[in-house]
Amino acid sequence: MRGLLIEGSMKFFVDTAVISEIEELAATGMVDGVTTNPSLIHKSGRDFKEVIAEICKLIPGPVSAEVAATEFEQMVAEGRELAKIAENVTIKLPLTWDGLRACRTLTDEGRMTNVTLCFSANQALLAAKAGATFISPFIGRLDDMGINGMELIHEIRTIYDNYDFHTEILAASIRTVNHLKDSALAGADVATIPPSTLKSLAGHPLTDKGLAAFLADWEKTGQKII
Ligand code: G3P
Repeated sequence: MRGLLIEGSMKFFVDTAVISEIEELAATGMVDGVTTNPSLIHKSGRDFKEVIAEICKLIPGPVSAEVAATEFEQMVAEGRELAKIAENVTIKLPLTWDGLRACRTLTDEGRMTNVTLCFSANQALLAAKAGATFISPFIGRLDDMGINGMELIHEIRTIYDNYDFHTEILAASIRTVNHLKDSALAGADVATIPPSTLKSLAGHPLTDKGLAAFLADWEKTGQKII
């Protein structure tokens, strides 16, 4: 399943369940996957399985769909149900002992898994031991508590590299353009980015100012390219 991913580059996932937002950003060719969670599904107002199926058709890369159960057997059952939707469904599981057990079972069945709600390096170590395809450390929610969320990305990168774990670090709860830049500097494999943040990445006042000056001078030449 790792073949679905573009090796050797930082992947961008979009953190939304709104189809129009995914369509708009997919047109840039920069969307490698999508993450959803129960809150984003609620916000979309859509039927869960229906919207996941639509997203999976739009984006060939990993599309995270989260189980709602909290107990091992039911988590595995829900994970298998979600995996039926499409080959690129990534089963998202919370970082609990039951979630980690379910991760091991579903990973051994050849499913992609994303262990979410990670707030410590030890939790990330457990997820890697459980064979997770992705670990989702939540940067913004740690920052909210006055703890440097980016430090967690650095710690996980070091631990995974020390032991050559193949679990990919999926930087989540990204709230600012600096969160993205710092995740890239820290060596996160993937960042899941809200559409508004992704769109704001290209903006810079000096780009706008420079372009306005170029266009004004071009106008003065009286020329046309076509
Ligand atoms: O995928 C969900 C994660 O990115 C949460 O973000 O902003 O709700 O903490 P946030």
